[in-house]
Amino acid sequence: MVILKRVKDIQEYLDSKRLAGVQIGFVPTMGALHDGHISLVQKCNDDGMLSVCSIFLNPTQFNDKSDLAKYPVSIDGDIELLLRAGCHVLFLPDVEDIYPDGEAQMPTFDFGYLENILEGASRPGHFKGVGQVVARLLSIVQPHNLYLGRKDYQQCLVIRRLIDILGLNETKVIICPTRREPDGLAMSSRNRRLTEPQRTIAGTIYQCLVSMQTKSESGKFALVRKECEELLVAKGFVPEYIALANARDLSLLEDYTSTVPMIALITARIGNIRLIDNMLIGN
Ligand code: PAF
Repeated sequence: MVILKRVKDIQEYLDSKRLAGVQIGFVPTMGALHDGHISLVQKCNDDGMLSVCSIFLNPTQFNDKSDLAKYPVSIDGDIELLLRAGCHVLFLPDVEDIYPDGEAQMPTFDFGYLENILEGASRPGHFKGVGQVVARLLSIVQPHNLYLGRKDYQQCLVIRRLIDILGLNETKVIICPTRREPDGLAMSSRNRRLTEPQRTIAGTIYQCLVSMQTKSESGKFALVRKECEELLVAKGFVPEYIALANARDLSLLEDYTSTVPMIALITARIGNIRLIDNMLIGN
């Protein structure tokens, strides 16, 4: 695996690969890698791409700076995992490489409704920061394929929109399934911060999503949401939202419908750890 830190170096390296006809697949991450990230690298390799993974803990997407300070960092372990997965290139820039003229000088993008609901409502400015860093990373890596995990579903839609705004028609976005622990807990870098008792109950979010999915045939969403809320609270969570939405554009739904593809979404806190997950329904 080639490890490159400077923008100029990775651009030169990838330019030469592109000239030789190599297809580039990109997996952007903030590190603290787990099987979910690794499955994206593997998919990229299976698709016959030169796999490029970036690790950059982007300050501009953390509205809560204490969340940034607590974000797990494990570069040595990450490198080990990437080596084992057969990742070809690791891009490991510093803040100055990504934001050479300062964060404020970087363009931001307007994602409208998509950046203000659900995660956007809970974390004001979050998707502006995501858009800013992903635009910069895409301009550096210029991938043919971009691999994203479905766990961050709203982020996937925001990035698709970004790619439209940037006119990068040649970049294909590939959204890969969420990887789960045996009890259903979605893999996430934040899971490392769970204490043992918290970890024991963390799978409840998945149970709720399954129930939201199974009851979609017969139930009333308002009742299912209430049951899920009560279960989460009884287990010690503070739910932020339990929502049903149109999977195409995240417009919120009052009740189950057969007219559009649906997605159930939950964000809940245990202690000061925020867990997010979702499940497609009926598609
Ligand atoms: O999902 C993440 O890890 C980050 O939001 C991303 C896409 C790497 C941008 O910093």
